[in-house]
Amino acid sequence: MNAELNGCTIHFADEGPRDADPLILIHGFPLSHQMWKPQIDALSDRWRIVAPDVRGFGESAAGDGQYALEVFVDDLIALMDHLELKSATLCGLSMGGYIALRTAERNPERVKRLILCDTRSESDGNEARLARGKAIRAIKTSGVPAFAESFIPMAFAPQTISGKPDVIAFSRKLMESNSEVGLSGALLAMATRTDTTASLSKIRVPTLFLVGSEDKMTPASASAAMCSHVSHGEMRVIPDAGHMSNLENPEEFNAHIGRFLSKPSG
Ligand code: MLT
Repeated sequence: MNAELNGCTIHFADEGPRDADPLILIHGFPLSHQMWKPQIDALSDRWRIVAPDVRGFGESAAGDGQYALEVFVDDLIALMDHLELKSATLCGLSMGGYIALRTAERNPERVKRLILCDTRSESDGNEARLARGKAIRAIKTSGVPAFAESFIPMAFAPQTISGKPDVIAFSRKLMESNSEVGLSGALLAMATRTDTTASLSKIRVPTLFLVGSEDKMTPASASAAMCSHVSHGEMRVIPDAGHMSNLENPEEFNAHIGRFLSKPSG
């Protein structure tokens, strides 16, 4: 489905019973909403699942590529308004987690529960900003497929790369279908995002932290640090998974989400 939101065509999946508890899945960089296929397939019989392509990714328009994380949050709120969702459980992986965290800080009334996967609350330091610049240059000079190839060893656990070639091929296809403008714009948005650490202690909703045991990009220590500030926080480590834990070990990932969503949200 498509919606015109904030001057941009935003594509999204909307699956499951319309009157069920809504779960919004926000994808990571540099993928698209299709990375949530194992969750949509397994969980949409009980929950309404809305999964947007963030502006610049998948089938959403890329526009001029001048993004800020705040723009991604504006789009998310506009999508919730469009679907008449007063509040929802927000589940974001990595970049999606940055979007969910800023939404919880800015619009806490729209957040019923939080699921923060393979993400962090700190903003980029100098080293990370320089790496974003390098990545933008690499995308522009070598193209998206070469960038995707270089991203895979950082994002997936070695056992996924050697033992789950279908997961790697699927992810590569999603990455390669994104545009240079969209990916570069998202890198700028992530490099300029604000630090949400100080607002973690103000989160009042049940919050689940999920992280792959072998996540090198946003390690378990980052989730543990965040969880220690959240009064209703719990953390689970997903075995045999790197940064893309929902794709690498969907059985374990889905089991935690199903259990978490089945608890009363208070
Ligand atoms: C992601 O998976 O969304 C990215 O790795 C996040 C980032 O680069 O900070």
